Amino acid sequence: MSRLVIDGSRRMKGEVSVQGSKNSVLPILAATLLSGEESILYNCPDLSDVRGTINILRYLGCRVEFAGNTLICDSRPLHENSIPNSLMREMRSSIIFLGALIARTGSASMCFPGGCEIGPRPIDIHLKALEKLGVIIEDDHGVFKCYAPDGLNGAKIALSFPSVGATENVMICACAADGTTIITNAAREPEICDLADYLNSCGANISGAGEGTIVIEGVQKLKGVCHTVIPDRIAAATLLSGCAATGGRITLKQLIPSHMGAVLSIFEECGCDVLIKGSSITLDSPFIMKSPKIVRTMPYPGFPTDAQAPIMAMIAKSKGTTLFIENIFENRYLHVGGLLRMGANIKVEGKVAVLQGVESLHGTDVEAMDLRGAAALVVAGLGADGRTNVDGLKYLDRGYENIEAVLSKLGADVKRI
Ligand code: EPZ
Repeated sequence: MSRLVIDGSRRMKGEVSVQGSKNSVLPILAATLLSGEESILYNCPDLSDVRGTINILRYLGCRVEFAGNTLICDSRPLHENSIPNSLMREMRSSIIFLGALIARTGSASMCFPGGCEIGPRPIDIHLKALEKLGVIIEDDHGVFKCYAPDGLNGAKIALSFPSVGATENVMICACAADGTTIITNAAREPEICDLADYLNSCGANISGAGEGTIVIEGVQKLKGVCHTVIPDRIAAATLLSGCAATGGRITLKQLIPSHMGAVLSIFEECGCDVLIKGSSITLDSPFIMKSPKIVRTMPYPGFPTDAQAPIMAMIAKSKGTTLFIENIFENRYLHVGGLLRMGANIKVEGKVAVLQGVESLHGTDVEAMDLRGAAALVVAGLGADGRTNVDGLKYLDRGYENIEAVLSKLGADVKRI
């Protein structure tokens, strides 16, 4: 079992490009099923979640090649429309295949993706929305079988919560529906816009992505296209947190600063200088950070839940008190245990965590229990005195490509052993 060995307190400096977005490429990979042709995706991050999705695409019959950060997927040879338990377990977000499989083949079956470290991860909003399009869903002892006996028909769908996955599932499925679908209370994340851009370049007719109301006109046929995946705003936020934890100064290139508004204002509240130049961000951080008063996670464009853990790790060493309110997932403070072992002062009560900044953290052995919690332990290790050993890299590798190489390029002392 490998681990990251981090020798902390080295001021980070230098510049790197940011990886492509995990949460953009995963739904786009599912959407490649619709055309029955070959799509080429550029700027695809090499992550275990991407490889898990490729395994599903290959199981379904697609031909997939993945070299460097370019992925070719030909969904012409698709011959399956059910995903086995073994592959569902590997990839919880494989629920995103549901809408695409029904749109392409008229039916689909898969087992309930099940909860994970950060919460029960229900899919009720997905299923209710797909039923509105005419999908019948039968729960056969935890395997649900979906089919559309009268075809897919456009509908008005009001989501009870702006669920990212449910918005994506419905958007993909509605492309093949007969007529117009209107989604209200839709998620507005940049990854929704990237998916809509991919689908529209395939010949879909989607408007309003990024707004609360999305309109999808069903079309007969989509074609395979080339598409470049947007940069990963959460990976960028994580690198900036690592830099700020060391009082460093780094530049991140090839990102979209406008996707990071809520995150960048927290860095400024902490006393960092944020310089935006085109698609680059330069962060210059003070040696001692001020604590932001409140970090409240919200649907986009609010502060992203995925950045909560790395930001908490960054301000564990700061002057003042911060109130965290995690409004999106039920159990997203799994990283607090590791931070406490490193000397942080944090009290968790339900969805609230109160962080009292301390002067320094000390390195020790810590174990990750979820993806962004793993990132938080790395950020804390970068700013801690001494050596931190981070176990549980299978979580980290789900969302960060070659993180030790990226951090080393920015002057950190990080080794994978
Ligand atoms: C996506 O997850 C992201 N994953 C998550 O990133 C991200 O944290 C989340 O959106 C919120 O931004 C991918 O894009 C692959 P949701 P998703 O549906 O779609 C509840 C990471 O670290 N809910 O917006 O699963 C749900 O339990 C990952 O990269 C229902 O109750 O998020 C959660 O509390 C983690 N019923 C809230 O809504 C449903 O049917 C938000 O979930 C669906 C969701």
